[in-house]
Amino acid sequence: MTVLAGSASADIATQTGIEVAPNARFVLEYAQGRLQLRDTATGAPGPLWVDLLSPQLESRRKAGRGLLLAKACGVRKGKPLPRIFDATAGLGRDAFTLAALGCEVVAMERSLVVQALLADGLARALASGDVAARRVQLVPGQAATRLVARPAADTVLLDPMFPQDDRSALSRKEMQYFQALLGPDNDEAALFGAAMESSVRRVVVKRPRIAPRIDATRPVDVVFEGKSVRFDVYLT
Ligand SMILES: C[S@@+](CC[C@H](N)C(=O)[O-])C[C@H]1O[C@@H](n2cnc3c(N)ncnc32)[C@H](O)[C@@H]1O
Repeated sequence: MTVLAGSASADIATQTGIEVAPNARFVLEYAQGRLQLRDTATGAPGPLWVDLLSPQLESRRKAGRGLLLAKACGVRKGKPLPRIFDATAGLGRDAFTLAALGCEVVAMERSLVVQALLADGLARALASGDVAARRVQLVPGQAATRLVARPAADTVLLDPMFPQDDRSALSRKEMQYFQALLGPDNDEAALFGAAMESSVRRVVVKRPRIAPRIDATRPVDVVFEGKSVRFDVYLT
């Protein structure tokens, strides 16, 4: 996908490796002290940026171990905190929520644009003194490759983009951006296979509630179902 030139395009290109294209639809720019992505198409939603200290994330943090995400990932009272390998970091909310619970999180993201937004959000959270941000290590690249090398983790979390579904964990705006910029993650089966072979004990797949399983041939061990999202847990 071609992206983008913004007000600080030369700097952004140098920092991120993203190609600068003068008339691209998407603009990556610094505004109000943050890096944001703006869709210039008519009728497009407002800009997208990572806010790890938003009220929405704050309330998730307050829910603590009671969150389905936490339960699914194996965060339990009296047990050691699982080390998390988040293979699909996206805008970092799941990674950051788990880090706020005390987990060390390796968060992998393959899209250069999403990496740039997430790195900026993490840097702002760090600068504000938030301790959870220190537990998140953002790693650029293809997670499947890293999983083959058997990461030191207890839980692998997978939340690939589900095609054309309004009930996903992403908000409407985020969904519009992700679909236009990235499209569906068509290689999710390979990613799941790599996770199951990685020797990590627990693989958690986040799906829209009514979506089919990521692999119909593998029996799921535990399911945590919310209003719009479901977590399928595989114990390897
Ligand atoms: C639905 S979003 C994840 C949202 C995330 N859970 C959150 O809390 O913000 C999916 C993201 O995973 C990334 N992704 C998908 N497959 C990947 C892979 N094999 N390796 C690295 N990143 C991947 C996509 O680029 C996209 O940014």
